[in-house]
Amino acid sequence: MDKLRITGGRPLNGEVTISGAKNAALPEICAALLTADPVHLNNVPRLRDVATMRLLLDNMGVQTETHGERGGMSFVAPDSLNPEAPYELVKTMRASVLVLGPLLARFGRAKVSLPGGCAIGSRPVDQHIKGLQAMGAEIVVEHGYMVAQLPQGRSRLKGARIATDMVTVTGTENFLMAAALAEGETVLENAAQEPEIPDLAEMLIGMGAKIEGHGTSRIHIQGVDRLHGCTHQVVADRIEAGTFLCAVAATGGDVVLRHGRADHLDAVIDKLRDAGAEIEVGDGFIRVRASGRLKAQSFRTTEYPGFPTDMQAQFMALNCIATGTSKVTETIFENRFMHVNELVRLGAKIQTDGKVAVIEGIDRLQGATVMATDLRASASLVIAGLVAEGETIVDRIYHLDRGYDQMEAKLRGIGADIERIK
Ligand code: EPZ
Repeated sequence: MDKLRITGGRPLNGEVTISGAKNAALPEICAALLTADPVHLNNVPRLRDVATMRLLLDNMGVQTETHGERGGMSFVAPDSLNPEAPYELVKTMRASVLVLGPLLARFGRAKVSLPGGCAIGSRPVDQHIKGLQAMGAEIVVEHGYMVAQLPQGRSRLKGARIATDMVTVTGTENFLMAAALAEGETVLENAAQEPEIPDLAEMLIGMGAKIEGHGTSRIHIQGVDRLHGCTHQVVADRIEAGTFLCAVAATGGDVVLRHGRADHLDAVIDKLRDAGAEIEVGDGFIRVRASGRLKAQSFRTTEYPGFPTDMQAQFMALNCIATGTSKVTETIFENRFMHVNELVRLGAKIQTDGKVAVIEGIDRLQGATVMATDLRASASLVIAGLVAEGETIVDRIYHLDRGYDQMEAKLRGIGADIERIK
């Protein structure tokens, strides 16, 4: 298993390019299932999860190819496709559930393994099932698989009004894709507003879908009979950008993020400015400058446009070495403090009690060997290693590779002393 070896204490200076968003690319690859025409995506990030999703579609019979270093990827999903997603692949990536909506919409049937839990929580898919059943799908769970089909005599899903028990990002994405080809109108009452949703909606509109209200909590979709191919540019990854902002704020330095979308990071940028980082926003770039110890910031994670849960671990690493005591409340997932014990191994002073962590800022962390447990926890440990005294080894960084495109190369490019050990 690969490890990262980091020697901390160096400021970060220079320029880094933000890749396409993992959480936009994954649903947008699945959207290719909605048509037999070729679909082209640009700016697809080179990530393990993207490779897994591509494998999942290959496995069904989709022709896929990558081209050019601009992260180009093309898909042709033939009518003869086998609408199944096996456990072996689904268990490694929960986002596989995103094939359910498009397969049902286009083929009228699907057999998708239940994803199972993951480190940050049980993460059920009951809301996905509830919404698709509201659209007329018959879904039973047997032998660990969701077996979905349309009722006798029906050849299409039908539009419905869907109100989920809680805001769900991939649930909203499944419903968008299913409703695009359904008969009649669908209204999503408490849709997710994360920027990856409007990005997916724009791609679907480019394929001929009729969608309004994307980016707000209420989305209207008028189903159409068929969708055609398109070329779509994947939106920049706001969580990768936020991760680099936190890294520079923690180590000190001066870095320009090319392609960073500041308008997708208001809550994080506000907190970083309150902490004392200087953040300049321009057309297609974000510049962050920091020096010395910042002021620790309390925050609670909520649905977009609030503070993103995917940035909680990274900002906590910053709070560990900031001045003052801060309180972090995780309201989205029930077990997203896995990074806390590892940060404590680096000398951090953190107490957790259920959804709340209290961090007492100290001026130095000490390097140690730590273990990544999930994607964003890994990023948190890398940031901590960049500021810790001496050498830090981060083990099990396959978690990091799932969601960051060449993280260590990008960090080395701005002055970090970091290398991958095979
Ligand atoms: C998406 O996960 C992201 N993944 C996650 O990013 C992100 O943390 C999360 O949204 C919240 O922003 C992708 O987009 C691929 P949810 P998702 O459905 O859709 C509960 C990362 O680090 N829930 O919005 O799975 C659920 O348990 C990953 O890039 C149900 O109970 O999250 C959670 O508590 C991690 N039943 C809450 O809702 C359901 O059917 C929000 O989950 C669906 C969700």
